[in-house]
Amino acid sequence: MRNITVIGTGYVGLVSGSCFAEVGNRVICCDVDERKINMLQSGVVPIYEPGLEDMVARNKEQGRLHFTTDVGAAIEASDIVYIAVGTPMSETGEADMRYVMSAAKKIGEHLNGYKIIVNKSTVPVGTGELVREVVQANKMAPWATFDVVSNPEFLREGSALSDCMNMDRAVVGSDNPEAASAIAELHAPFNTRVFMTDLESAEMIKYAANTFLATKISFINAIANICERVGANVSDVAEGMGMDSRIGGKFLQAGIGYGGSCFPKDTYALAHIADKSGYEFELLKSVIRTNQKQRMLVVDKLREAIGSLAGKRIAVLGLAFKPNTDDMREAPSLTIVPELLRAGASIRAYDPIAAEAASRLLSDEVMYADSVEAAVVGCDACVILTEWSDVVGMSLAQVRTLLAKPIIIDGRNCFSLDEMEREGFVYHSIGRRP
Ligand code: UGA
Repeated sequence: MRNITVIGTGYVGLVSGSCFAEVGNRVICCDVDERKINMLQSGVVPIYEPGLEDMVARNKEQGRLHFTTDVGAAIEASDIVYIAVGTPMSETGEADMRYVMSAAKKIGEHLNGYKIIVNKSTVPVGTGELVREVVQANKMAPWATFDVVSNPEFLREGSALSDCMNMDRAVVGSDNPEAASAIAELHAPFNTRVFMTDLESAEMIKYAANTFLATKISFINAIANICERVGANVSDVAEGMGMDSRIGGKFLQAGIGYGGSCFPKDTYALAHIADKSGYEFELLKSVIRTNQKQRMLVVDKLREAIGSLAGKRIAVLGLAFKPNTDDMREAPSLTIVPELLRAGASIRAYDPIAAEAASRLLSDEVMYADSVEAAVVGCDACVILTEWSDVVGMSLAQVRTLLAKPIIIDGRNCFSLDEMEREGFVYHSIGRRP
């Protein structure tokens, strides 16, 4: 059992803090955002993540998980301090390091003995060193010592708890073997492989992993676009490719491109890091461009299917960047819905969880329905943007009778071509010619 403080109660901080508490550590999660901490103290989790509210409640009740806005006191109370603050994309595409640096300054000011400072935020290579300098420069207690470790996070939104409790691997980077071992030991209850390396390589692993996954997605989307032109079926192509264990079948689902708070930000950031280092990462720049273009495909396909969009009623199913989250960051819907409105269509949207978050970002002209059926009724066509289970599981027979015209443009390849033909739909998907 260790005393761990986690600075930042965003996605990563809250999930990792809760999981460390779940396996028996005493964890203090702190944040300067009073509203968030008040919510957490009263048992309300500010983000939607299946299972998280129960895990937070259980660990709070058993006295292992605490929340506070007093960041200084939280730092003083633990010998392991995780930095899990946001690194949003700045205007130049670089990671904005403001919050990481202010956390490091705070740690320096409250360093009251030996501490291991662990960076979990996704940060440019060299940040560990920078954190070391900032802590050292702000140290109030001359006798206090510390080590810096990088322990990047690999969890996915929507399956964060199982990703965290059953992680593929933990990466621990440090120049101090004892500090690295202490952080490696924290992962023993998760029954996972721990890969130990130096600080810079650990920081690079996170970017390399995320941008490689983004590359897989853009690659299969490019293949999908060719499949459409030559009459191949991208689902079969991906399955056949993925059977080669050197390639692997995961992250080969063609669609309208990747969104979310990580891939878009991290691809831009690594392209920037590469430029700054004197190497032009042309491949990654193409990955980004391919992803941007992919979003508009559903609008093109819709126009092909129904002609001008002016005055047409369109049902949009799914708004979140992927299922099981209310996260709207970089969601393809934020580009697609405004484009449909600009073209003169009226929109009735359905998203089981993200509708409220979406309504704050989309035009007031968008109407919202509380079920798939209510969204599609009387519409000239239906567009699928997120593969929520109630979208994938919708009654096709019922939807066909409710739609004014049985037209579905599926940006996530939720249904088989045979099934849609049997059900009598005009069905356009990605990389599969009807
Ligand atoms: C991603 C990584 O998968 C995590 O390992 C990483 O820890 C996280 O970023 C992070 O850096 O914090 P996440 O953004 O939650 O996780 O979501 P993913 O499940 O990876 O999906 C990202 C996007 O790619 C979604 O828009 C999804 O629809 C899209 N995607 C995914 C595809 O279009 N095709 C696929 O085959 C897989």
